[in-house]
Amino acid sequence: MSDVSRPSPAPSPVAAVIPAAGKGVRLGPGAPKALRTLNGTPMLIHAARALAASRAVSLVVVVAPPDGAAEVKSLLDAHGLPGGGIPGGSGERTDFLVVPGGDSRQESVRLGLDALPPEYGVVLVHDAARPLVPVDTVDAVIEAVRDGAHAVVPALPLADTVKEVEPAAEPGAPEPVVATPARARLRAVQTPQGFDRRTLVRAHETVTGEVTDDASMVEQLGERVVVVPGHEEAFKVTRPLDLVLAEAVLARRRLNDGF
Ligand code: CTP
Ligand code: MG
Repeated sequence: MSDVSRPSPAPSPVAAVIPAAGKGVRLGPGAPKALRTLNGTPMLIHAARALAASRAVSLVVVVAPPDGAAEVKSLLDAHGLPGGGIPGGSGERTDFLVVPGGDSRQESVRLGLDALPPEYGVVLVHDAARPLVPVDTVDAVIEAVRDGAHAVVPALPLADTVKEVEPAAEPGAPEPVVATPARARLRAVQTPQGFDRRTLVRAHETVTGEVTDDASMVEQLGERVVVVPGHEEAFKVTRPLDLVLAEAVLARRRLNDGF
């Protein structure tokens, strides 16, 4: 039985693709970033749970390091996130799939999209490196897509002023400032980014060249992309200090939730 207090489900079920195939070079030597642990649990497990926590998400596709698909599969099993069910979009349970990734984030996302069964009309793309995204942020993105947006990005205002520079040839050399965009008009974007599936697939088929997020590919198609409020806990674990912050967030949650 569906919960009457929730909006009735849209016809299209929601799948999430989690690119987790990166090396984590900026984190320093060690295992691929998505397999590093926070309080003993691999980052990608935190991320997979965060997406599965949304009632709307019925399939999570984890894009594993190219030679790590078997390891990721057994990690998911070991943490009670099994694959092999029948994805139905009921919101009652979430199915998990693992595919090997590629050399760039873009390629990894495309490999994840290729693995989606046809019934999924809405797709979220979520970095494994953002393990602590709250479910309310996930749901806000899904709601905006279900309300008709073809591309939705959670984002936050910036704390720092941003300068555009002429990048120096050697690292550490002074770099001339070219411009200072008005900070009030800038947003730092996060994931999950949410899409009408056909729009995202078309973007991946059409756009070539280096990009750092999926929404920018949709922008290059000339399609409208909208921003919804992000969350400070959806930050990306990039450098060693971010691991300290992530574990502090988990400790605060345990204190607040009593587990
Ligand atoms: N990613 C991926 N495939 C790649 C590169 C990145 O699936 N070939 C994923 C990462 O696993 C991560 C997300 O894309 O979840 C965001 O990338 P980033 O934070 O840059 O992670 P890494 O590429 O692993 O880190 P670094 O750039 O420091 O090596
Ligand atoms: Mg990277």
